[in-house]
Amino acid sequence: MSLEHSTWAINESISVDIAVGPGARIVLPRLVREAGRDYTSILIVADSGVPGRFVEDMVEAFTREGFRVEKLVVKGGEKAKSINTVVGLWEWLLKVGADRWSLLVAYGGGAVSDAAGFAAATYMRGIDWATVPTTLLSMADAAAGGKTAIDFNAKNIIGAFHHPRFIVADTEHLETLDERNYVSGLAEVVKHALLEGEWFLDWLRRNREAILARSHAEASKMIRMSLDTKMKIVARDYRERKGDRMLLNLGHTVAHAVEKATGYTVSHGEAVAIGLVVEAYAATRITGLPRSSIEEIRETLSLFGLPTRPPSNISADEAVKLMRLDKKRRGDKLTLPLLEAIGRPVLVDLRLDEAEKVLAEAWREAGNA
Ligand SMILES: NC(=O)c1ccc[n+]([C@@H]2O[C@H](COP(=O)([O-])OP(=O)(O)OC[C@H]3O[C@@H](n4cnc5c(N)ncnc54)[C@H](O)[C@@H]3O)[C@@H](O)[C@H]2O)c1
Repeated sequence: MSLEHSTWAINESISVDIAVGPGARIVLPRLVREAGRDYTSILIVADSGVPGRFVEDMVEAFTREGFRVEKLVVKGGEKAKSINTVVGLWEWLLKVGADRWSLLVAYGGGAVSDAAGFAAATYMRGIDWATVPTTLLSMADAAAGGKTAIDFNAKNIIGAFHHPRFIVADTEHLETLDERNYVSGLAEVVKHALLEGEWFLDWLRRNREAILARSHAEASKMIRMSLDTKMKIVARDYRERKGDRMLLNLGHTVAHAVEKATGYTVSHGEAVAIGLVVEAYAATRITGLPRSSIEEIRETLSLFGLPTRPPSNISADEAVKLMRLDKKRRGDKLTLPLLEAIGRPVLVDLRLDEAEKVLAEAWREAGNA
């Protein structure tokens, strides 16, 4: 199968080379060479959850291209996003003699990528980095957009915008993911489909079996389409200043409340799935989203085994409190991304009391449906 390769210009000075497909990890060294940047060394930060043989393939490929390569394995998962990990990475970068012409390669899930990307953003005021996402969520979402962060008393509170120069999504990594992790990643894909248009949602439904079977061809196409949707929005607002980027938070206001209320036993993707449905109910009241669209969203999520009802033991009032809408307020208004139609997301300004009321009603309605 051939690899898809393209270059996305974020602005005049930042462009990102993207390769998607089985075996893409072996292609990165060639992409790096062809990009014409004479990197002095390649410094790979590998997630411990990723089978070592995959990472070794990349080490060998870089070595064959004549690069000096160093590798460090860090423990994968959310705990990687700590200041201790970043200090460890800074120490390692100094020890192996990383300079401003080194390329750091973050090889792993979204957590390792966020931490390693942050180390790249801060070491010597920022060195180039590449990301090799290895979970579906990181391939279809986290890899793009240039947000890097660690958790510090609160999630993602310390971070920087630092776009990777290369994104290499190798679908062979999907083979070792557990089912729940894979399906959770699909929720962000559905979110991108809702932002993009009916055709994307239809495509997902039509290719359900191949997607669930993790077929390389369909998974690659799905990741490609997902990344394109995200990059298009990011390119309009690459440092989250104009507001467009807030569209990517579709479903997330409610999702954060679901995660907190359940003590994070519901995964992020599962919470996003529920959030997309509850926020669709809110949209019918605010933007006039047709009720038939709710059914379409619900049906698509269910086809992939994702939940669509808020947990019944959490009351609407409790959920709304956990949404921390007051924190999102600017002056007396807050802005929510909502769908006007599938493929037509809009940012809506609401008063705090209005937002609380409509989200509570939507929570109840989604629970009773
Ligand atoms: N930067 C962004 O724009 C952005 C966007 C969305 C999410 N995120 C962040 O991403 C993180 C979640 O990322 P995630 O869902 O990838 O989870 P994760 O990085 O926490 O990884 C989950 C587990 O899967 C393991 N793993 C990774 N690849 C594997 C593979 N191929 N096979 C088997 N196991 C593998 C990891 O070691 C870890 O134990 C969160 O911290 C979130 O904040 C960032």
